[in-house]
Amino acid sequence: MPVTAVIGAQFGDEGKGKILDYLTANADFVVRYQGGPNAGHTVVPHEKPVVMHQLPTGILREGCTAISGPGMVLSPGDLLNEIQQLKSQGEFRGRLLISERAHVILPLHRVQDAWEEEVRGAMRTGTTGRGIGPAYMDRVGRFGLRMADLQRPELIHQKLELLYTAKKHMTGTTQELPPKEELAAQLVEEGKALAPYLCSTEPILWEAAREGQHILLEGAQSALLDIDYGTYPFVTSSHPTAAGALVGSGLPPQELDSVIGIVKAYSTRVGSGPFPTEALGPEGERLRERGAERGATTGRPRRCGWFDLVLTRYAARLNGFTSLAMTKVDILGGEPEVPICIGYELPNGEQAEDYPPVLAEDLERVTPRWRTFPGWAEFTPTLMRRLHEEGWRALPRELKRYLSFVGEEVGAPVTLVSYGPRREDTVEIPVGGLEPASALEEWRST
Ligand code: IMP
Repeated sequence: MPVTAVIGAQFGDEGKGKILDYLTANADFVVRYQGGPNAGHTVVPHEKPVVMHQLPTGILREGCTAISGPGMVLSPGDLLNEIQQLKSQGEFRGRLLISERAHVILPLHRVQDAWEEEVRGAMRTGTTGRGIGPAYMDRVGRFGLRMADLQRPELIHQKLELLYTAKKHMTGTTQELPPKEELAAQLVEEGKALAPYLCSTEPILWEAAREGQHILLEGAQSALLDIDYGTYPFVTSSHPTAAGALVGSGLPPQELDSVIGIVKAYSTRVGSGPFPTEALGPEGERLRERGAERGATTGRPRRCGWFDLVLTRYAARLNGFTSLAMTKVDILGGEPEVPICIGYELPNGEQAEDYPPVLAEDLERVTPRWRTFPGWAEFTPTLMRRLHEEGWRALPRELKRYLSFVGEEVGAPVTLVSYGPRREDTVEIPVGGLEPASALEEWRST
């Protein structure tokens, strides 16, 4: 499919980096369309893990053009470090382009991120502290600097002057901020260093789409962290959803051919906010340990829980998933039973199947209804070898049933399964390959 969006279907950290890296084998272009250094994609292209924050996964593939797109907010200094780091690891293999329209995260945005969280107190979002929200606020408020400005020293001075004046009006002080002149000089230098990568990326993508080249639109965070459709206010400040992939890349809607939803076999969340299927106590602890669930960006332990069909059905409708990729199925290997949330009971007794309550306060108070599946076998070296040799058919029978159930209930088949961090720990399942979920009746219990 020439243009494919790859979207997190849960609360982020579904393993998008791993799946994207697998898919880039057939991609000519990979475009990150939103977010900034709040995201962290961990990829294991060879032996060593590589963590990327602002660079698209396509940079790891020779012949692939990786675009940090117009919808992103970028921290120039961190971006230069990331480029340097990848080069020193020998993993900077593709061609990098950075959109001139992307907005600049300034040191003051980090300062603002910290005090905003302080102000929120008990209602704190649990942001990554990277200044993402404040940078997007200045974008919408029309005080922002864009990457194109960094090529024009006189504009940097002019726009910083305006921004600092605005901040003084809003907060009463600019004392906490780095001196303006120092910052301007730093931005001029960073602009010079980034100049070889900066360009207008939309015309390149329009041309590529016209020629039928393969373009992957790489989401960060996830549908449930979308500023409008996520669990507001416990969300990020951009649109990780499929519509956001178009706005954030500049491609017109009719170019989008397919939308892959990435789901983990269970659920995790970092930061605050409702999480109806959260497993507290030893159960959650076990998932965290087994899945090594720590944030790639902040190192914070992730909250862990079970698969939530209500939220995933909602994400599927919102994004138009045409298929699903399920990751980390190996982590649940050896669990005697695997619960899955099939619906919510709301405090007023009503049921929800595919549309969660709009208010985070209400989502906090739903009671999940569960179905429990028998677990599947551990991913032993023998099983891994069989999977490498025979493909998806070697997946444990109970897991195949779980995949079939999820695909049917969500309305998009699971066509990719990841059972380890390495590129090769992935199998493709042809559409219609799995037994239908109706064959599952005997496995169900409430
Ligand atoms: P921000 O994007 O730093 O403003 O954080 C807003 C919310 O999104 C917080 O709950 C973060 O933990 C969450 N978040 C931001 N980036 C990621 C990510 O890449 N994975 C998972 N959660 C994220």
